[in-house]
Amino acid sequence: MLKKMNKKLFLIILGSVFVGIVLAVVTNSGVKATSDDSFCLSCHDTPEFTEYFEARPHSEVSCISCHGGGLIEDKVKGTTKAISTITGKKDPNNYDAINAKVTDEKCLSCHNLNSTNRSDLTIQSHAVFEQNGLSCTDCHDGASVHGYLKDYSN
Ligand code: HEC
Ligand code: HEC
Ligand code: HEC
Ligand code: HEC
Repeated sequence: MLKKMNKKLFLIILGSVFVGIVLAVVTNSGVKATSDDSFCLSCHDTPEFTEYFEARPHSEVSCISCHGGGLIEDKVKGTTKAISTITGKKDPNNYDAINAKVTDEKCLSCHNLNSTNRSDLTIQSHAVFEQNGLSCTDCHDGASVHGYLKDYSN
């Protein structure tokens, strides 16, 4: 038997999955609209974000090329986030409370570190990477992609 709270939670999750999948599968335009950078920035609308991101080379790739986890996962996650935003449970611009993870595979799907056309600094830094088992994001962190959203002063 589910306790009352768990039942409620379960219904919310079920609802999220359902809405997400319907949006994704039934309407192809829904997929397009909810994969667009402007959609992401409608919630994540801190000015530094857009200004810094737009001025950097990654502005030519979309948010989901780094943050996407596949169609179904994205829609389920997106719907859950929409509910937390609408109900005021989560603030999409409170970056101190938000943690993201971008895997090396994502980066390496676009970047080939074995290319010979590199500066000495780059080659040396990437040798350090190989030796110490670091992640790309240990050096190329979120701030280097879209500016300092988090408060590092404390
Ligand atoms: C309806 C508002 C809303 C929209 C639209 C939205 N987000 Fe979010 N996002 C949030 C909220 C709220 C959180 C915090 C969720 C949490 O901490 O569980 C969040 C967290 C995140 C995180 C960090 C946590 C994680 O799951 O990795 C990333 C990265 C992110 N969003 C990227 C995006 C991208 C990319 C898009 C566009 C495809 C997008 N967001 C669209 C509200 C939104
Ligand atoms: C080139 C890859 C890349 C692109 C493109 C990108 N991000 Fe990120 N993002 C990151 C990395 C890296 C982090 C930090 C997570 C980590 O360390 O693994 C991050 C973190 C975040 C966070 C969590 C807050 C933080 O500062 O850690 C949000 C929210 C987010 N990104 C949203 C977006 C949105 C919206 C877009 C499109 C406008 C976008 N990102 C485009 C790589 C990217
Ligand atoms: C969808 C493809 C794509 C993905 C995914 C991607 N990048 Fe990039 N990246 C680019 C493009 C395009 C450029 C600009 C042209 C260039 O410099 O090659 C770029 C530029 C860069 C640069 C040089 C410019 C700068 O901003 O300093 C670095 C460093 C970089 N990427 C690291 C990363 C890391 C780390 C990740 C994973 C968190 C990542 N990239 C994910 C396509 C991508
Ligand atoms: C030990 C820190 C470190 C790690 C870990 C690291 N890098 Fe770098 N990377 C650098 C430095 C330093 C540079 C040269 C300065 C710059 O362009 O930011 C650089 C440059 C780059 C560039 C742009 C220069 C070029 O020649 O294209 C790309 C793309 C890049 N790194 C991708 C990655 C990817 C992908 C990973 C993970 C597989 C990674 N880096 C891991 C430190 C690191």
